[in-house]
Amino acid sequence: MTRHDDPFVRYLRSKEAIDDRALHRPTLAELGDRLGRRADSKPGEPLRVVSVGAGTGAMCRRLLSWGVFDGHDEIKYVMVDRRKGMADEAAAAFAKWARAAGWAASPTKDGFRIERHGRQVSLTYMTSDLFDAMSALPRAIDLAIGHAVFDLLPLRRAVSTILSRVVDGGYLYAPITFDGRTAFRPAHDADDDVVAAYHETMRDGESAGPETGSDLLSVLPELGARVIGAGGSDWVVHPEHDDHERVFLDHILGFFEQSLGKSDAVDDETLREWLATRHRQVETDELSYVAHNLDILAQLG
Ligand SMILES: C[S@@+](CC[C@H](N)C(=O)[O-])C[C@H]1O[C@@H](n2cnc3c(N)ncnc32)[C@H](O)[C@@H]1O
Repeated sequence: MTRHDDPFVRYLRSKEAIDDRALHRPTLAELGDRLGRRADSKPGEPLRVVSVGAGTGAMCRRLLSWGVFDGHDEIKYVMVDRRKGMADEAAAAFAKWARAAGWAASPTKDGFRIERHGRQVSLTYMTSDLFDAMSALPRAIDLAIGHAVFDLLPLRRAVSTILSRVVDGGYLYAPITFDGRTAFRPAHDADDDVVAAYHETMRDGESAGPETGSDLLSVLPELGARVIGAGGSDWVVHPEHDDHERVFLDHILGFFEQSLGKSDAVDDETLREWLATRHRQVETDELSYVAHNLDILAQLG
């Protein structure tokens, strides 16, 4: 059953247009060029893609729409996410998108297939922790994608586990990887404390921490993958906000509330007042928000 009122799904949907404009185009162009050359050198071979922390599969739809996979007539795309219900949400999002984009969709035993102009994409969803999913997959990934997820993972372990399933010469693409800077405007007296405390909560447990984008630049080569493209993909949201941006900003503030509510780093009264001010500024169309992210493309071997 799909739950279109799932707040997290609403957040992911609101994020799509913000990611669209943030993605670092030279890195994406590098990926497209290399996949095109791969298709030319291996005619008839399918492109095998695995996306970890795939959410509702927005990146797959985007890469298809933007022609990044155009060199390949057959694509096998596996989405992995541990969150329950996400497979149904992805199926609903793909069905809607496929209809609008003129792809014919048909169900398969573990997902569905879309076809258009002789090109086929098989889509499979695994509701699983990525570490379990990777141990169940053969070493046969041409392109692994981790979109807006590496900061949530134990970085070295996640990268090394993913790379262990990537073929020699295959790629890892890590777009929208948070990299340590958050800003809100107009400035508020509590900004420095709130933002610093928020970044600290990203070190909780095994999470990669607030500078995951930069850390990837060293972790990837240490684990045998050469960085072949990288650049900033900052989220910049400013007035006047459209409906998606309002939903997005409310969710970002929700993440602050959730994370800092559990920490003692900012006193309750300061946090309450800061959040109330920021929510009011969303309503009155005054709030600007910047988050620094990196897109990174690496090649194994
Ligand atoms: C910020 S969301 C990004 C979703 C999607 N890539 C996008 O940007 O639209 C991160 C996703 O990673 C998933 N996730 C986090 N840790 C995971 C893990 N260890 N294994 C599988 N999925 C994970 C979460 O459930 C969530 O859906």
